[in-house]
Amino acid sequence: MKFFVDTADTKEIRELAATGLLDGVTTNPSLIAKSGRKILDVIAEICDVVPGPVSAEVAATDYDQIMREAAVLRRIAKNVTIKVPLTPDGLRACKALSSDGAMVNVTLCFSAAQALLAAKAGATFISPFVGRLDDIGQDGMELIADIVQIYSNYDALKTEVLVASVRNPIHVITAAKLGAHVATLPPAVLRGLYSHPLTDKGLAAFLADWAKTGQTIA
Ligand code: G3P
Repeated sequence: MKFFVDTADTKEIRELAATGLLDGVTTNPSLIAKSGRKILDVIAEICDVVPGPVSAEVAATDYDQIMREAAVLRRIAKNVTIKVPLTPDGLRACKALSSDGAMVNVTLCFSAAQALLAAKAGATFISPFVGRLDDIGQDGMELIADIVQIYSNYDALKTEVLVASVRNPIHVITAAKLGAHVATLPPAVLRGLYSHPLTDKGLAAFLADWAKTGQTIA
């Protein structure tokens, strides 16, 4: 499973990229607003740090303007992935952009029917928002299971399932068990994957015993 980080905070991205476990980055208008920076500057900096796909979301909703914004974003770097909303105009743009060789991430997916449309439109990634479904009392992971199953029925559908709106490690593990290709994680959730109290306890005991030996290795 690939791990993307869902943030526009370039300090966080640099730190997480240094782990060697980061495969890409996703941003959205809310995350760009939170960064307090200009979208073109932030995306360019992220693309310098992370060679994998970096999602930059258009702010337009009509086809012509989506295409104009996508052209500007694509010029930033080769690894920019154009993020479009799951609307008729967004999917029309997805088809045109993917036919022209661009990577496209279709966002704001909340149903299997929407995911099927995005795949037919040539999306590189479909982003189902599991946390926001959980928030309204629907099981986000049921949607992931449905999409993974549907895509696996058709060799012609190459779209990767990018699990978004991830809130906790259980989302990540459940999505991995279901065979989702990618999870985009808030930095805190990505860091949280390392943690287990028995790891901390075991390490403390090993270090205490080691200190008693008076030895050094290097
Ligand atoms: O970037 C899309 C998605 O991951 C947003 O997550 O936490 O705002 O529901 P969230």
